[in-house]
Parts: sequence; C-alpha cells; structure tokens
Amino acid sequence: MCGIVGYIGDKDATPIILEGLKKLEYRGYDSAGIAILDGKSIQVRRDSGKIAHLGELLSKDPIHGSPGIGHTRWATHGEPSERNAHPHIGFNGQVVLVHNGIVENYLDLKQELMAEGIQFNSETDTETIVHLIESYLTAGNSLQEAVQNTLARIRGAHGIVVISTREPEKIIAARIGNAGGVVIGLGKGENYIASDIPAILEHTNEMIFLESQQMAVITKDDIKLMTLNGTRINYKIEKIDWDPISAVKGNYRHFMQKEIHEQARALTDTLAGRIDFSNSNIQLNTLNIDKIDINKITGIKIIACGTAAHAGQVGKYLIESIARIPVEVDIASEFRYRDPLVDKSQIVIAISQSGETADTLAAMEEARQKGAHIWSIVNAIGSQAMRLAEGFISMQVGPEIGVASTKAFTAPLVDLYLLAVLLADKKDLLCDESKSKLISQISMVPDLVGTCLEREAEVIEVARKYKDIEHILYLGRGINMPIAYEGALKLKEISYIHAEAYPAGEMKHGPIALIDKQMPVLAIMPKDPWYEKMLSQVEQAKARGGKTIILATDGDKRAKELGDDMLWIPEAAWMINPILAVIPLQILAYHIAAMKGLDVDQPRNLAKSVTVE
Ligand code: M6R
Repeated sequence: MCGIVGYIGDKDATPIILEGLKKLEYRGYDSAGIAILDGKSIQVRRDSGKIAHLGELLSKDPIHGSPGIGHTRWATHGEPSERNAHPHIGFNGQVVLVHNGIVENYLDLKQELMAEGIQFNSETDTETIVHLIESYLTAGNSLQEAVQNTLARIRGAHGIVVISTREPEKIIAARIGNAGGVVIGLGKGENYIASDIPAILEHTNEMIFLESQQMAVITKDDIKLMTLNGTRINYKIEKIDWDPISAVKGNYRHFMQKEIHEQARALTDTLAGRIDFSNSNIQLNTLNIDKIDINKITGIKIIACGTAAHAGQVGKYLIESIARIPVEVDIASEFRYRDPLVDKSQIVIAISQSGETADTLAAMEEARQKGAHIWSIVNAIGSQAMRLAEGFISMQVGPEIGVASTKAFTAPLVDLYLLAVLLADKKDLLCDESKSKLISQISMVPDLVGTCLEREAEVIEVARKYKDIEHILYLGRGINMPIAYEGALKLKEISYIHAEAYPAGEMKHGPIALIDKQMPVLAIMPKDPWYEKMLSQVEQAKARGGKTIILATDGDKRAKELGDDMLWIPEAAWMINPILAVIPLQILAYHIAAMKGLDVDQPRNLAKSVTVE
C-alpha cells in the first residue's frame, strides 16, 4: 500500500511531489508528508489526514528545494498520526526516507538501536530503516553502502526512497520483494521516482521499473541501476502509452463515476488488436501460448482477490463452457496456506488490476515453485504480476484510480472470454461457424455496454429509493452468481450498507430466513440458462414479503411483474450478460454512496493496492 513520489532536478520539488501524491492518494490516505533538501538541511512537513491537508500545511509553512521525497500512507504499524506519517528522519538528521512495506524483524532491530541510545519518535517499523542507514553513515559508509548494509538486515518486502544531506546530489531507491513497485521516470536534467506510473506520467512517459532485489542511484543527469550488492545492471527504458488525461477526473464528480463511464471505450481498447476478423482468430501475443501444449493441460486455476476473484469466477464458466478445461477459482490469500495441488500439467492464471497485490503475487510464486505454468491478466504495466508470469494479457484500460474497481472488472471478463475462445481453438473444439459466432458476440460488447451506460438516469431513480436501506441481499445463479457477489461488494465498500450475496439456489437452505420488509432482494436474472430457476427463487422471496429489485433483459414481462423496481440490460448472448449486468450495479452503488455524501473514491479503511498480507 502507500504511495511514494520523488524528484531530483533544477525545479522546486515540492509542487511536483504534492501533485504526484494527489494522484496516488488511492493507494492510502491516512497521512502524508514531504521532505526536501533545502541547501544543507532536511525540511519535513507531514500530517495525518489526506493530501489536501498536507497542501494546506505547505501553504502556511512552505518548503522549497531539490531533491525531495513524499509519501501517502496506509497504516500498518502505528495509528494514522503526524508522528507516524512518512518521511522519517534519522537520529542525526542526515537521512530521510519514505517506505512501502513491513519490516518483519523491526522489534529486534528497534531493541538493538535503542540499546545503542537511539531514540524513536514514532510507532512505525519504518523508523528502524532510517536509523540503521544513519548509523552506517555515521560509521563512515557512503550513502549507497549505508543503504545496502541496511537492506541486508531488514526482513520482508519493501520499496524505499532515501535522500541525505551527506550526498545531496542523489536519490537512492530500492525494491525488495513485492511490497509495491518502484518506477523511475526519465527527464532531461531531472528524474522522477514513484511507486506508480500515474504520479509522474504528466512529466515523462519514459520509465524504468525496478525489479525485486534491485536499487538505483539517481542524480539529475544519470541513473545507475544495480543489484543490492552493487553489481551494475543494464536497464530497459519502457515507453508508457497511457494517456495522462485519463488519470484525471475531468468533469466527473468522482473517479469511480468517470471509470464506470469509460467502460465502453476502455473495452474497445481491451479488444483492440486481439481479433483478426479476416480469419476469425484471437491474438493474445503476450501470452506466449505456443510454449504450452494445451492438449496436455489438465486444469486451470485462477487466483485473485476481491473484485478480480469475482472476474475469475465468471472466467470459470467461460473457459469450462467454451474450452472444456476444468477451472478452479481460488482466493489468493487462501491458496498458498493449504499446500495446493498444482503441478506442471496446470496453468495458473493470476488476475490483478494493480499487479502488486501481495496475496496474489505470493500465490503465483507458490504455483511457480510447484511447476505450474503461470499467466496473468493485469492492468498496471510493468507490475510484478506482469513480470512474474510466463505470459500475460494486459487489460488495456488505463489507470484505475477509484478504490472500487469497475473497468478493471469488465476488462478481465473480456480477456477471459478471448482466452476461452483461443484455448478452444488450440484444442480444435470450434468449427469456423461457432468461432465466428463467439467472436461476433464479444465484438458487440463495447456497444452494449454503451447502451447500459446511457440508462444511468433510470438507475439513479432506483438509487434514490433505496439509499437509506441498512441491508440488502443480492442473488444470482450460474454465470451471474459472481455478479451478485460483485454488485454486493461494490455497494458495501463505498456505501457501508450491509450487502450480502448468495447463489439464489442456496436461499432455501438458510438465508431465506432473513427476508422481510426491511431486507430488499436484488435478483440478477437476465435471459440465460438459469433464468427459469431464478424466476421461482424470486417468487419465493416475494412470497415472504421481500421488496424486489430485478435486473432483467429488455422486454422481459415476467420479470417486470415480479419486480418492485427494475434494472434493464439489453439482450445479449448469455456469456456476455455478466459484462452488461454489472454496469447498472456499479452505477447503483456509486449513486447510493454519492447521495449519502460519502467519500466514494477513497472509502474508509481501504486502499487501492493491497501490498501487505
Ligand atoms: O489490484 P488487484 O486487482 O489485485 O486488487 C484486488 C482487490 O484488492 C480489489 O479487486 C478490490 O477488491 C477492489 N478494489 C474492490 O472494488
């Protein structure tokens, strides 16, 4: 979690870092701070609360200079407060540091440092790192040596950025493990550092990504990339083709609203270059699928967390139906703790928007060690999940800033559909006619999603009626069962309404007892193979006095008779329905939270990238 920004060059670092931090606030927002080298001394401003608060502090009490580093925090050790906010300064005032990660042995290190008479000013684990660097500096090490010696002593996964009055012409950045990325942005006579691309994209689109166990010594004119023991490494400059404009809110009230509305265009981008209409072929070039004999694959495991796991559950239906390969979906945080049965006859697909989710990366590593083929479906370019995989499919939807995932849910659905067709093709399961039918169905998605988005006003009316409810039950079956889970997650995470999701067929085994006038039921029942079953389950809910919101296919009269309120989606093939059905549910959750005046983009207790276990 946490966002990091750094700058070195001739400009004043403060506004650059402050603006960069605003773009990273989605990573954590309980406190923030900036440190600048001002001539010979370190100036720090930090406070609890959001970046706006830090901005006010800086206007009252400005600091100027270069280099500088900044941080927005998601607390792991120590409450959100000024004293626990980063940057943290060393005991002699010569080193200042921002950190992303957890020092697993910090208690031992803290005791050792305290025994040497070093006083701690915060409850954070991070403070041990900065004091260690300062100790090594004081003992005569160069800044680079001090950082290297320190990194050799801390356990866990980390991204750090350090500056020092002793060597004011450089910034040192390092990455160990998967606690979040470190990316260096190349400028002319200046360089940038960040945990994520959006923070610095307005300044440069040329970036170098640090791998685990790498560090960089960055001056305004030069970058030296090396291993943690100082062996130089050649670096590859990657050009980022994200549009910096898509990382700003524009005329929308919230990023989430903008990202919901971007989906028609974003899914066009997801499809771009992936379908060869002349011969009905799917092209997923970065997947390296030809390195695997698909006919020898006995099963696929999808590992992911939260919204990404819901996408995986839809993927199970798609891959099993189209490619006839058994698929299991695992919550990544559970996967590695049960000695999972995976081997080289299986493909493990990790799905992750950020590509930095610690649980997902750990599950990938577990599967890799057991010999499985590893693929990923990822949005963030250059992220660990992209790099650790043998092949990847990029979501191609641009940065997603709202903590509640929207376009990074529909994009993997499109990717999984394409993958299912490609796998079926490799297994020779599809005749030309079925292949081109499947392809034509997926190519209609952006238009159909556009139609769903045009109906926002109707969904707002439903939101108005239900905004004050305290509980709600989402029901779905078959391929739309994960959509019930996703709809409920969207509502609960941004509106704090208790929304529970259930496979509709399970109702009679317990949850039906919950239904009364206070517990509305939202039933997802477009025309699909589970439609008739859904009808009878909604009848059962209605018979017990439940108010019903029904999500149905345009023109469905039977659904309309049952629904107190309706959410409509256009007619589509059943395998496409989930991509459409989730749109009104995203819009509903968004407007309920916005009507309640809640902080939609940064809901309480959450962060966009969950880089801790
Ligand atoms: O970056 P990832 O896709 O790996 O994130 C996984 C989950 O943390 C994420 O999907 C989360 O559930 C959503 N932000 C919820 O909307």
